[in-house]
Amino acid sequence: MERVKTGIKGLDELIKGGIPKGSSVLLSGGSGTCKTIFSMQYIYNGAQLFQEPGLFVTVESNAKNIMWNMESFNWDIKKLQQDKLMAIYRLKVSPKQAIENQIESELEVIESQVKEMGVKRLVVDSTTALGVLIKDPGSIRSTLFGFVDALKDLDCTTFLTAETENVKTTFSAFGVEEFIADGVIALYFTPPHRSIFVRKMRGTAHDKNIHPFDIGTDGINVKAKEQVLWEAIK
Ligand SMILES: Nc1ncnc2c1ncn2[C@@H]1O[C@H](COP(=O)(O)OP(=O)(O)O)[C@@H](O)[C@H]1O
Ligand SMILES: [Mg+2]
Repeated sequence: MERVKTGIKGLDELIKGGIPKGSSVLLSGGSGTCKTIFSMQYIYNGAQLFQEPGLFVTVESNAKNIMWNMESFNWDIKKLQQDKLMAIYRLKVSPKQAIENQIESELEVIESQVKEMGVKRLVVDSTTALGVLIKDPGSIRSTLFGFVDALKDLDCTTFLTAETENVKTTFSAFGVEEFIADGVIALYFTPPHRSIFVRKMRGTAHDKNIHPFDIGTDGINVKAKEQVLWEAIK
């Protein structure tokens, strides 16, 4: 089986070398647990270390903010963008029109960008922000499901972020995201301690412990040899 290395220090060894290629992985956690940094690092590493083109789709913030956030680490993303190894796309949805139609047309934009750049790594940050734009509560699940399902046809290895309430056993905001995903990685922040847990990963054995991580000047570093007790997570 082909695997895709996240390139995040200490993480790939927890999943036998990498994410099974073509998976959609949900990255869940409360606010401030490093979901955005993790997913930026996944795209950056792909471009910088493995020459794999990546597309970062943001629903929450504009492309400039994402760039500033990335540049706060020692990541030279301008060159990668010029070389078409990396792109940031702000999903364009207006609350004034029916969201379902807009999602259709945004999927077409994403698809053409994926084809044009030969994108291998895709991020959608976040499914929660997308979900709240869907006003009819009855159609949130089906619309989100349809969106993620359409992304699966793109032949990328994808990270979808989900913002949860700070409840350690909840992995999504709408209760559907984790079922669509092939994998779930949970991030926790119990101040001042940060930790990460591979909850599910279809098609591969994986580590079942919770591990601490920190954020340095080069991004996230997972301490694969250290463990955090479940009881220590609040
Ligand atoms: N350059 C940086 N160096 C160290 N820590 C940072 C840096 N940028 C952000 N952080 C920390 O990471 C936290 C979470 O980042 P973020 O990925 O945006 O969280 P989330 O997307 O889960 O809400 C910030 O609140 C801050 O504490
Ligand atoms: Mg975020």
